[in-house]
Amino acid sequence: MAVLYLSTPERGAVFARAFGEQLPEVTFWQDRAKDPGAVRYLVTWTAPEHLAETYPNLRLIFSVGAGVDQFDLAGLPPGVGVVRMLEPGLAEQMREYVTLGVLALHRDLPLYLDNQRARRWQAAANRPAAERRVGVLGLGTLGQAALAALAPFGFPLAGWSRTRKTIPGVECFTDLDAFLARSDILVCLLPLTPETSGLLDASLFARLPEGARLLHAGRGRQLDHAALLAALDNGRLAAAMLDVTEPEPLPAGHPLWDHPRVILTPHVACQTHAEEAAVHVLAGVRADRAGAPVPGLVDRERGY
Ligand code: NDP
Ligand code: OXD
Repeated sequence: MAVLYLSTPERGAVFARAFGEQLPEVTFWQDRAKDPGAVRYLVTWTAPEHLAETYPNLRLIFSVGAGVDQFDLAGLPPGVGVVRMLEPGLAEQMREYVTLGVLALHRDLPLYLDNQRARRWQAAANRPAAERRVGVLGLGTLGQAALAALAPFGFPLAGWSRTRKTIPGVECFTDLDAFLARSDILVCLLPLTPETSGLLDASLFARLPEGARLLHAGRGRQLDHAALLAALDNGRLAAAMLDVTEPEPLPAGHPLWDHPRVILTPHVACQTHAEEAAVHVLAGVRADRAGAPVPGLVDRERGY
């Protein structure tokens, strides 16, 4: 029984050590399997080609990221499970990123960065946090972590999810229209699925309060980039901060690079930490071998 690791060499060295020390009875291969038939677990960002033929005894694919949209879930062999990355460092980093972005948008940072470039010393009126309603699309691991980080600032908080949630201090919605109508800063932390692809479009922007702001750290394909540019230019949206685009990197010359009211970061909200990721994968392998539920196992039909 073996694990095949197909990701960055630096992280691989950490995984090799962790498996060697903590699960020596499971063989650990990096980059290439000596005996593909022995591979039960893959650790990777994308699925290799001809998966079923090459690894006939594969049970689980561990994603090295929290997202699993890079896999064709419907096309994977039927008995193979997909496990998303659940390591505490991801939620910690997303807490920081969302706090950074929400405060930047709340305190008009895009405007002041633009003023600085134009050497304009010009103040806008500060709005109290109590009058800036923040709404988070997605109330999973990362959405809930982000909301907890925002709680001390005094923003009225809300979240939207597929199934109803109860979170102290957060107004929870399943009705998208009602949620959007009260969101002055909209944060997207949704997984990419057929339902969420293209969700951030002109019709959604039209349902936000005039002059709302967008913080997007989900996946680039959830955003209609042309609709965002139009909404920024006609004043429907006041500003945006984006960590994800489609494609990545954003092509040279794309209008988002230079838009005066857009802040861009290069998909850095979270980066998987090798040590904690190895702990998560070890726990998953142990659970699977014991016939117990595997933490982070994705519902392939639902898509996340
Ligand atoms: P989870 O699976 O824990 O949570 C997903 C949430 O989205 C759930 O609350 C779910 O609702 C909700 N949701 C999914 N589909 C719908 C829908 N159609 N309508 C309404 N709500 C929906 O995911 P995580 O919080 O761990 O991660 C979210 C995403 O963040 C990842 O998939 C990835 O794309 C992105 N990400 C981005 C990173 C970056 O660096 N920019 C880093 C890590 C992740 P319900 O609770 O009802 O199931
Ligand atoms: C992830 C990401 O899914 O980096 O972890 O976006």
